[in-house]
Parts: sequence; C-alpha cells; structure tokens
Amino acid sequence: ERYESMKKIILDCDPGMDDSMAIVMAVKSPEVDVKAITTVNGNYPVDITALNALKVLEMLGRTDIPVAKGMPEPMFREKPKDPFTHGKDGQAENFLPDPVTPLSEKHAIDMIIDVVKENPGEIYILSTGPMSNIAMAMKKAPEIKDEIGQIVLMGGALTVPGNCNACMEANISQDPEAADYLFRSGAPTTMIGLDVTLQTLLTYKETQQWRDLGTKAGKFLADMTDFYIKAYETTSPHLGGCGLHDPLAVGVAVDPTLVTTLDINMKVDVEGPTRGRTIGDETRLNDPAKTMKVAVGVDVPRFLNEFMTRISGLAAKAE
Ligand code: BDR
Ligand code: CA
Repeated sequence: ERYESMKKIILDCDPGMDDSMAIVMAVKSPEVDVKAITTVNGNYPVDITALNALKVLEMLGRTDIPVAKGMPEPMFREKPKDPFTHGKDGQAENFLPDPVTPLSEKHAIDMIIDVVKENPGEIYILSTGPMSNIAMAMKKAPEIKDEIGQIVLMGGALTVPGNCNACMEANISQDPEAADYLFRSGAPTTMIGLDVTLQTLLTYKETQQWRDLGTKAGKFLADMTDFYIKAYETTSPHLGGCGLHDPLAVGVAVDPTLVTTLDINMKVDVEGPTRGRTIGDETRLNDPAKTMKVAVGVDVPRFLNEFMTRISGLAAKAE
C-alpha cells in the first residue's frame, strides 16, 4: 500500500560530493522510490560519476537500484575544462571501495525513456548534473514529454549571479544547449537554482555531529562536507558554509512546499557573452501556459532539519 503512494524517482546526477549526499538523501527518504540512477559527464567524466554512484549504493546496501551510465560529453559542443574540484575521486578523497555491482547494460538515455514509459505520468526526474542525458532522452523519444510527471532540477540562477561567471551556474555551464532544450520543451519543470541553494548552508557544526557518531557513513559524509566547506571558504567566504545544492533538489521532490516558486517560461542563452544564463524566454512571455517554476524562496530551517534528520539517522546506523 505504502509502496504505491511513494514518489517514483529517476536521479540523474554527476557525483560529485553534493550529488553523493543527494543519493544518500533520496535513498533514505521513505517517501521516495528510487527506480534508477543515471549518471552524466559533469563534475567528473561519466565513468567516474557512474562508479561513484555505485560506491554510494554499495555503502547503503542498495545495489538493487540500477545505475546506468550516460552521456560522456555535452549534446553539441566540446566539454568545458576544469570544473570545480570535489577531490581526486570526486568524493572528497574517501576512496570508497571499488564497487562489485555491475552497471546496467542500458545507456542512461534508454533507462530514462523506459522507466518513464513503464510509469506514465508518475516519474519525477531529479536532475543534479548537466542536463545532457535528459535532453537526449527527450530528443530520442519526444513523446515522453507528456509522460514525465515532473522534472526537478538543480541548476541555474535567476535572481542571483552564477557561480562560474556573472551569469552562469555550473550545471548549466557544462551543457547550456541541453538545458535550453529542456527549458523550452514544455515539460513540467521546477528549477532549484543558486537563488535558493545558496541559502541552505551547512557548517562545521553540523558535520562534527556526524563525525562524533564514529561510523563509516558518518565519516564519509563529514569528510565530504568539510571538503566542500573548505572550497567555499576560498570561493565564497561571505557565505560561512557550503551550499546544499543537490540535496535541496531531493528535498523539494519529496516536499514541494519547502520552496516558493515563480511561474515563468524559461530559456538558456547559448550564444554570446551571456552564454549559460538562465532567464525568462521573451518569446513566450505572453503565453498564458507557464510550464516552468523557478524557486525563489526556501524554508531554510525546515529543510535543514529534514536534511539533518535523514542523513544523521543513516550515519548513526551504518557500520
Ligand atoms: C552544482 O554544480 C556541481 O558542482 C554541484 O554538484 C551542483 O550540482 C552547483 O552549481
Ligand atoms: Ca551535481
């Protein structure tokens, strides 16, 4: 009974530290049934992001969730160089054991198409990396646009500057064309951008709670987050912590009331000096049908409490 009422999710990600936290949060949220994890080139090449997803699932004992490897590069253009560092292994140099579970034989694009078609109208696609896999799935099987329940994506910035340059956020920067394709597609999409993810900050105070538990998972999560906080001390010292980008997208998929949103038809600039900017689409300004929602406000204490409860529960129990 309860299973039936759970939200069915595909998590498309590029772990990455905050993606690894997002995997933990999604798998440990009783409201969510993770049908598949698909990985994409982004924080690291796709071979590493796929491996990292498997490593986290093995740590959690959830190797029943299939992991499918996806796009090794953006839809059209060359890979941008040197994304933000998440350590040599993409997981703050925890070097979790190499997974024994094999990857799915399916390509991530087909995994997305198949899972959506098997569950028409029900699938939440949760995107926490560049949107190359999702856009390619929609290009290959355009009919899934009307069968996707909802896309919740971490990426972009509407009311604040970007984190790569003045107008470009990291996930968009890795594949602006894919993001533009998705934004203009008309698929029901909620954008969780820097507008809100830079409000949900984690500090050494929280990570110390995990470290104090003395468990493997507690150490993994604390190491990853401390690594992230240190990076933020250099790039954004005014914040006083690290942004919980990808976990907030999971939080919103579980409970949309965590954020307040603006109904707006969006696009991504793909040419010129503003390449990578996420902004309202002037050609659909007067279109009464708004297919996207952009989060502009977030209930910070409620989300942090949810996040800490879910993650600390796991960190306490695991070996
Ligand atoms: C996004 O960029 C990546 O580095 C993070 O994993 C997150 O998805 C934040 O801009
Ligand atoms: Ca990510």
